Amino acid sequence: MDEELRAIAWTGDTLTLIDQTVLPDRLEHLEVREVDVLVDAVRRLVVRGAPALGVAGAYGVVLAMLQAGREGWDRATLEAAVDRVREARPTAVNLAVGVDRVRPLIDAGVEAAAAEAGRVLEEDVAANRALGAHGADWILARVARRPLRILTHCNAGALATAGWGTALGVVRELHARGLVETVYVDETRPLLQGSRLTAWELAREGVPHRVQIDGAAPSTVLRGLVDVAIVGADRIAANGDTANKIGTVGVALACADAGIPFVVAAPWSTVDRATATGADIPIELRDDAEVLGRQGSRTAPAASRGFNPAFDVTPARLVDALVTESGVLEPARGRVPGA
Ligand code: MRU
Repeated sequence: MDEELRAIAWTGDTLTLIDQTVLPDRLEHLEVREVDVLVDAVRRLVVRGAPALGVAGAYGVVLAMLQAGREGWDRATLEAAVDRVREARPTAVNLAVGVDRVRPLIDAGVEAAAAEAGRVLEEDVAANRALGAHGADWILARVARRPLRILTHCNAGALATAGWGTALGVVRELHARGLVETVYVDETRPLLQGSRLTAWELAREGVPHRVQIDGAAPSTVLRGLVDVAIVGADRIAANGDTANKIGTVGVALACADAGIPFVVAAPWSTVDRATATGADIPIELRDDAEVLGRQGSRTAPAASRGFNPAFDVTPARLVDALVTESGVLEPARGRVPGA
């Protein structure tokens, strides 16, 4: 694995994050020792992507324990700090799952808590490797064309996980088998996770790709230029409805119309069986400023208001494959996670 591409790493008492807000211009790291610095980093998308948020949540508990020791917090202050980490962003269930894995170990001490957080990280890398292979096999069994033309939306790569990636893990696996012609990378407005992050990861590995505006994606699919779309997920409801970056559902609708597979790749930690359907998934609403301007300068009229949901929900009927580390479900054919 590309060691430089560790979005999140633990070094004894510090959480080291690749600062994804300044990529691809600069590869910089943020060293985090305080809970509120982590919460701010999560909100600003210094660290982002559902599985990476899960690891951040797990180590967030450890950071809170260390800070509590340094600053003499009482138990209520510690628990409130852990809650702030858990609630820093609402849609990716992995954040809460990561916190909830480590929180019960607060009384067992920092060493035990850090060991559990380390397991969350290692399990994610292993899950990504496994689901990459399952996804590649499923696609190759259903799509005849070689090499493949793939479309992806947002960034579900190494940067969004503990390593390797989910949707990009499948792409990496297919590329390793010599089977990728090109990847259409949606730029992913407004924060450009596609053009800034996915394109950067693919360029580093020499995977042929083309960045397109989000609005081009349905047309690229309907023109017959794509064989399969592969995306990640932030939360998958028990019925298979899938929340992912805003713009995903348009890709899924186009794939259904064109009759090509729409594939969601995600570890089981993204499946939330306690959430019955997509209608119950909380959708993060971000600052209007992200859509009313570009790079800090306003583009919309001063009188205009924005609407900035960060995620959408793709109905299970449009999800041909849900690729996990333990195999592939087919929600569009009624094989759903809650069954
Ligand atoms: O707002 P972001 O950048 O955290 O959104 C990320 C996504 O939507 C990803 O596709 C998803 O978290 C899966 S990452 C493996």
